[in-house]
Amino acid sequence: MKRLLMTPGPTPVAPETQLAMAQPIIHHRAPAFMEIIAQVREDLKYLFQTEQEVLMFAATGTGAMEGAVTNTLSPGDTALVAEAGKFGERWGELCRVYGINVDLIKIDWGQAVDPQEVARRLDANPAIRAVFVQANETSTGVQQPVKELAAVTKTRPGTILVVDAISALGGYPLPMDEWGIDILVAGSQKAMMLPPGLAFAALSPKAWDFVKTSKCPKYYFDFAKQLKSQQKNQTAYTSAVTLTLGLQQVMGWVREKGLEKIFAYNKKLSAATKAAVKAMGMELYSKQYPSEVLTAVLAPAGVDGQKVVAKMREKGIWIAGGQAEAKGKIFRIAHMGFIDEQDLLGTIGALEIVLNALGYKVELGVGLKAAQEILGKEA
Ligand SMILES: Cc1ncc(COP(=O)(O)O)c(C=O)c1O
Repeated sequence: MKRLLMTPGPTPVAPETQLAMAQPIIHHRAPAFMEIIAQVREDLKYLFQTEQEVLMFAATGTGAMEGAVTNTLSPGDTALVAEAGKFGERWGELCRVYGINVDLIKIDWGQAVDPQEVARRLDANPAIRAVFVQANETSTGVQQPVKELAAVTKTRPGTILVVDAISALGGYPLPMDEWGIDILVAGSQKAMMLPPGLAFAALSPKAWDFVKTSKCPKYYFDFAKQLKSQQKNQTAYTSAVTLTLGLQQVMGWVREKGLEKIFAYNKKLSAATKAAVKAMGMELYSKQYPSEVLTAVLAPAGVDGQKVVAKMREKGIWIAGGQAEAKGKIFRIAHMGFIDEQDLLGTIGALEIVLNALGYKVELGVGLKAAQEILGKEA
């Protein structure tokens, strides 16, 4: 049986990318590898929509999140954390580990942070040095108002906006320089169409100024050290050679296709999934700000979301269940990265069968038809 990953990371890796990664290992200080680094450095700037250097680490996304905290702040500083789900919790945990005081905005699951509330908190405490948020809160399928948040922090020289875009970057627009995002963090295994193992962070000039005064301990994730190495087309420590070869291949595609077309295609897949779910009589978990890279669905009354996930797996299709307080209540279908219309139609068709088997009666084909109507429209 084929296995289809419709999970919000890891996501499928294209055969062409796998072949690129099957090349023999070259030494990470060899001139040929340094040429590849030079190339991906430019490609990553295109993807992050920034003129700044995009730092690359052999790590999962959390490594770059940790680096974003330890390279800009000092013990005793205060940070504002917008916690809208499981990954929002991680910002708070990271800050506390390093002795940073956390001013918490706890947002109900399924909701997004209110930029006005962030502005109010910053007005009430001008000592807040950083605002931490997720672009896409993967646990709830909510897209946060990053542009509006950046408008709030942009005018405040003493505060940076740090955005975890691990499940968002490459899926929908997050133009770092244009919006004024200070740190944008990403990971390889989601919309970037690569296996897990690369973490990325780009910093605005304002954030690099924060780096100069930061006193948190750091070693591997020392951003200044990594910047220096990358400017010489190297990484500070041994490069993830294989993943970098994959990155070079993927970025070739991204450049060829263009971000605009990729974002438009993802948007269409997202709209088709959401229309299918609604046509099957179900509701989205996030009604106000549904994510464009995944669809979080409220399981119908009497149906355990975990059972939907388990039954889909029997058909070779991996979707995700709910985490923590959403466990059993929801299931999540990702449509990011190397996912196409056929993958999506297969998933929706299988979901109709699975829901019927679990006792939720859906007329077969009703979700498919809704999705097909959207997918059939000219771009
Ligand atoms: C929004 C978000 N932040 C952080 C992470 C953690 O990333 P990693 O597991 O790559 O460290 C994830 C992974 O699912 C995520 O979706």
